[in-house]
Amino acid sequence: MRVLVAGDRGYIGAVLVPFLRAAGHEVDGLDLGLYEGCDLGPALPGTGSYPSRDMRDVTTAELSGYDAVVCLAALSNDPVGDLNEAATYSVNLDGTLHLAEAAKAAGVERFLFSSSCSLYGAAKDSAAVAEDAEMFPVTAYGRTKVDAERGLALLADDNFSPVYLRNATAYGASTRLRLDIVVNNLTAIAVTTGKVHLQSDGTPWRPLVHIEDISRAFAAVLSAPRAVIHDQAFNIGRNEDNVQIREVAEMVREAVPGSELTFAEGAGPDLRNYRADFAKLYDTFPDLKMRWTVREGIAELLQAYRQHGLTYDDFTSSRFTRLRRVRELLDAGALDEELRRQGDASLVRQQS
Ligand SMILES: NC(=O)c1ccc[n+]([C@@H]2O[C@H](COP(=O)([O-])OP(=O)(O)OC[C@H]3O[C@@H](n4cnc5c(N)ncnc54)[C@H](O)[C@@H]3O)[C@@H](O)[C@H]2O)c1
Repeated sequence: MRVLVAGDRGYIGAVLVPFLRAAGHEVDGLDLGLYEGCDLGPALPGTGSYPSRDMRDVTTAELSGYDAVVCLAALSNDPVGDLNEAATYSVNLDGTLHLAEAAKAAGVERFLFSSSCSLYGAAKDSAAVAEDAEMFPVTAYGRTKVDAERGLALLADDNFSPVYLRNATAYGASTRLRLDIVVNNLTAIAVTTGKVHLQSDGTPWRPLVHIEDISRAFAAVLSAPRAVIHDQAFNIGRNEDNVQIREVAEMVREAVPGSELTFAEGAGPDLRNYRADFAKLYDTFPDLKMRWTVREGIAELLQAYRQHGLTYDDFTSSRFTRLRRVRELLDAGALDEELRRQGDASLVRQQS
């Protein structure tokens, strides 16, 4: 298939794009470029020459000829989403719907929206939530995912099939590493300080999934018969990887010799607390085999951190933390309040 991936230059895109190419798809990208130069190891190919493109401005002509559009582009976690709610809605809701409308007008038949299990939010009880569960998003980011799914559903018709892939919290090594997600974060703190430091009391439940397995699920949806994916939501993850944060911390402690578990002062439970039910994904795609366990992901991350010399300073820098990076671009005047690129300001981060 000819596939356009919006947000191809981020954490998941850096793994998904090569994965789809290896599966035989022809893949192009479209990205604002918020994280250019924020790489672990060798720079992502194209860094420095990548043309910044905002999905809010995309034209129908740019999308013609594609069989599918994958939308990863977003202000993609809770802290960035809280920075400026209007900007979060502008990108995550208006931008997504604009991209989808342009895709539909261009005759693109399939639209894969990278949604999130965080739209379930503060679950009422401890039962795992399936796709038809009520949603209680607790952040602006979560609310934009709910609203974007609803807006996309209104576009569904005989010629246009939106699909909502509700990813669990991702983990795993990527050139565009993130240290603001739990498994990557705890593993990095442990390897650079010897402490597995928890900000919450570790009791909240969280479903987790490796980014390569996310890629696998996207590939399955791309090539599935239309009837099984049309206007459908899928939780993306594995039932076994609904874990309490404390369990992740224990796995990291065991993987990093000599490390100890510590808690932030006054650490209490986190509002985001839910388990997801992944049965629909495997019922719909019986051949889909996820490959990663959390323990294997921790080992992979440790290897990547050691190989590329991750330091404690990387936590305090803007390199792998989305909120810091977006703030840096705002402070430098490279982005305006709506997070639109200013003129031809360079978005490429200079490595320190
Ligand atoms: N990482 C996770 O744990 C996780 C979990 C669930 C869902 N998701 C969703 O998956 C998607 C990808 O996540 P990620 O972790 O790769 O995020 P990321 O922040 O690493 O990457 C997002 C990319 O989108 C680009 N972008 C932002 N605004 C844009 C715009 N207006 N136009 C074009 N490009 C724009 C950024 O430059 C960046 O390269 C997001 O929609 C996110 O909400 C991620």
